Amino acid sequence: MDKFVIRGGNPLSGVIRVSGAKNSALPCMAAALLTEDEVTLENIPKVRDIETERRLLQSMGAEVALREGEAQDQTTISCRRLSDPVARYEIVKTMRASSLVLGPLIARMGVARVAMPGGCAIGGRPIDLHIKALEKMGAAIAQEHGYLEARVGTGTGNGAGRLHGAHLVFDRITVTGTEDLLMAAVLAEGETLMENCAREPEVVDLAALLTAMGAKIEGAGTATMRVEGVTSLHGARYRINPDRIEAGTFLIAGAITGGDLTVADCNPAHLGAVIAKLREAGVQVDALGEDAVRVHAAGRLVAADISTEEYPGFPTDMQAQYMALATQAEGVSLVRENIFENRFMHVQELVRMGANIKVEGSMATVRGPTRLSAAAVMCSDLRASASLVLGALVAEGESIIDRVYHMDRGYEHFEEKLLGVGAQIQRMGNVFAPREAETVAG
Ligand code: EPU
Repeated sequence: MDKFVIRGGNPLSGVIRVSGAKNSALPCMAAALLTEDEVTLENIPKVRDIETERRLLQSMGAEVALREGEAQDQTTISCRRLSDPVARYEIVKTMRASSLVLGPLIARMGVARVAMPGGCAIGGRPIDLHIKALEKMGAAIAQEHGYLEARVGTGTGNGAGRLHGAHLVFDRITVTGTEDLLMAAVLAEGETLMENCAREPEVVDLAALLTAMGAKIEGAGTATMRVEGVTSLHGARYRINPDRIEAGTFLIAGAITGGDLTVADCNPAHLGAVIAKLREAGVQVDALGEDAVRVHAAGRLVAADISTEEYPGFPTDMQAQYMALATQAEGVSLVRENIFENRFMHVQELVRMGANIKVEGSMATVRGPTRLSAAAVMCSDLRASASLVLGALVAEGESIIDRVYHMDRGYEHFEEKLLGVGAQIQRMGNVFAPREAETVAG
């Protein structure tokens, strides 16, 4: 398994560029299942989860063509000959977002067989809300042998059954649940009213693609969405928005190393809660136009509390990275995790580097500043990995970060990007390590 070797202590400076959002690209690729025409997506990040989704679509009969253009990477997906509406366990077991094909498959084919995603390092990750809402729209869903078997009407696989519109109220806010149901509703008969929806920019991205494909959607980006179902959708070309979590991770990399870093090709409007918190912690953050943010050291870091919330609150996907920063801030920072029940896996590893962090239930108390010293540490999930890299960037000496395959699931060319702004980071590969040993999280 690959490792990173990082020598800490270099302030990062220069310009670092953000890739397309993994969590937008995943539902947008699934949306291609809804039409016989070609869907072309630009700015798709080259990360492991996207590769897995490509294999998943291909296993169902989709044709997926990748083209690396001068300025933008393109993926064209054709689901004209969708032969096999099955998401096999062998493919989906390393990716949580497999449930995103459930809604579109039922909507297009009237039938779907999708392997249940297992638990993962950050929490149980149930999909009961997806199932409950799809049932309300007329799907019959049973669970057998680790698979969800779904059908609507006679469900012959030729679109014989059609979902009907419904009034859906999500019991709690779910990002992929909102996306899954949105994809189901666009081809359903009649109107679907969705309440307590996720307002994440990734939902807005998906809704914009679906609208370009001919869907009728109102209210994306708000808690209430109204969808008027249509009988078919057509192809479209769509550019995926920048990854706000990658951007936020780089902002913290600049801040924690006391550097002067410009994070380019991002959308500052999607980073409101993160930027506000960094400023509260004493970091100088300036928006540079509409697509860049500069972060630079402005004296000592000071403690500031965070509490993770659904968008537009402070993202759970930035909690681990923020905690690394909090170890360098003067005073006590309280970090409350409200979205996932077990998202503190990075804590023990940061403690091994010298951090002073105590966890009680969903609250972590970070006392700083502490001098971090290099150590051998282990990644447990995607964002925890990022937090360990951030800690290593300021630690004294050479850290070894193991299991960076977690990082590769969601960060494109991570070490190359950091190298380009002055980090001392090197990947050490072990080509003989079996991928089977990998576990899933994120
Ligand atoms: N939940 C349920 N039942 C459901 C669905 C969700 O109880 O049917 C619970 C979850 O267990 C969790 C909460 O609701 O406690 C919120 O989960 P949500 O469904 O919003 O999470 P998700 O859609 O599975 C996406 C991102 C995650 C991100 C979360 C929260 C994708 C592919 N994944 O997951 O991204 O943390 O939203 O913002 O979009 C990551 O990129 O590292 C990552 C984990």
